[in-house]
Amino acid sequence: MHRTSINEALNAEAPRDSITLMGWVRTRRDAKGFSFLELNDGSCLANIQVIVDEGVADAATLKMLNTGSAVKVQGMLVESPGKGQKWEVKAKAVSVFGDADPESFPLQKKRHSDEFLRTIAHLRPRTNKFGALFRIRSEAAFAVHEYFRRNGYFYVQTPIITGADCEGAGEMFRVTTLDPSTGKPAAENPFEGDFFGRGAHLTVSGQLSAEVFACSLGKVYTFGPTFRAENSNTPRHAAEFWMIEPEVAFADLGDNMDLAEDFLKSLIDHVRTHCAADLDLFAKFVDKDLTASLDNIMAKPFVRLPHGESIQILKKSGKQFDFPVQDGMDLQTEHERYLTEEHFKRPVIVYDYPKEIKAFYMRLNDDGKTVAAMDVLLPRVGEIIGGSQREERLDVLERRIGELGLDMSCYWWYLELRKFGSVPHAGFGMGFERFLMMVTGVTNIRDVIPFPRTPKHLEF
Ligand code: 4AD
Ligand code: MG
Repeated sequence: MHRTSINEALNAEAPRDSITLMGWVRTRRDAKGFSFLELNDGSCLANIQVIVDEGVADAATLKMLNTGSAVKVQGMLVESPGKGQKWEVKAKAVSVFGDADPESFPLQKKRHSDEFLRTIAHLRPRTNKFGALFRIRSEAAFAVHEYFRRNGYFYVQTPIITGADCEGAGEMFRVTTLDPSTGKPAAENPFEGDFFGRGAHLTVSGQLSAEVFACSLGKVYTFGPTFRAENSNTPRHAAEFWMIEPEVAFADLGDNMDLAEDFLKSLIDHVRTHCAADLDLFAKFVDKDLTASLDNIMAKPFVRLPHGESIQILKKSGKQFDFPVQDGMDLQTEHERYLTEEHFKRPVIVYDYPKEIKAFYMRLNDDGKTVAAMDVLLPRVGEIIGGSQREERLDVLERRIGELGLDMSCYWWYLELRKFGSVPHAGFGMGFERFLMMVTGVTNIRDVIPFPRTPKHLEF
């Protein structure tokens, strides 16, 4: 089935005597003696206009040329006399692959709400907004790989099924082949009869495996799906999301912040350069401040602020927060927003968090109280990146795992990295969906992922 994409046709240098397009009808308008079709094939935001003269399509075909039907158009690419488009197609033949009944096809010309479109996630990529979104998502994914490749990183595919809880937060989905309907006798190892012979889960992060490869290949990254069984029904959390995790040997927290900032800015720059038309839709119809807020992220170095100082600023703010500000507390969304949107009015990297509120693997600072952690906070989005310098000292790490009551035996190989040629190293994780929310201005994570998984939602 040879076809020219609409994107290619619209960018043609010269007219063509013969062209074949395939796509979905967005609208049909009938005039005296001919019909106009607006055709879209997903290759770009713009439709191409097709002129179907009377007699080119028989009556039965013409009747099927409704919004949503899939068609093949053969014809000539000619200069368009109409405004706003360089090329149009004069059809010589039109045929229908599959029609769409106008009575029941849900995507009619009017604007639909995001909530409604979520209920038809199998059709929403055919709308302008979601077509644009998923083209941007694709381009951004390539940009991630390109960035790391350009900078000498190796791409590691870390496992999805894991025996270790990376974040130690216990928010994991179990993986099992045990039949839930058969009651098992209490056994020493309740997973003896299970596929792996031990407890298995979907990974919350590829970090621990990435550390292995950073401590051998030097600079690596993972980019894959991660899973969290946290029951937080917020616009920024999904149970399945994609995370980008670079991990670098011979690097400290300062290097990690430099990398995070450079990576984020490069990615924004790439999307703005390569997805200009699609992004414009979001700047026009989704978030009128989008251009200004992206400019703001690009404009200056990010603020770097020790956690303790962030608490002082919040205390002095005179604001009434729902979560009262206390020393040593974790920052809530309202606090993050105050810092980035009101106080500094730009991105802030908060670092050196109290060890009590952070994961076991973060490097203990000399004060014995804080760890070399960092969170990158953005206006509107909140936390987009979380990372740290890792604890490379065996005795300190063992003590932390013990203090937190984690199962030491799960981490033996992770601990051995600290026994044999241990090096200072650091890394972070960026939620890919959070990045897409930031760059498009879309405020719900359900609208930047093809098929969202959230509590009580597993359709599609
Ligand atoms: O801060 P987090 O939990 O950090 C880690 O998992 C580290 N192991 C990463 C590392 O150092 N290699 O998650 C990292 C980022 C967050 O900043 C956020 O952008 C995103 O992942 N994230 C989520 N995105 C969508 N839905 C969720 N439920 C998310 N949880 C975290
Ligand atoms: Mg975090």
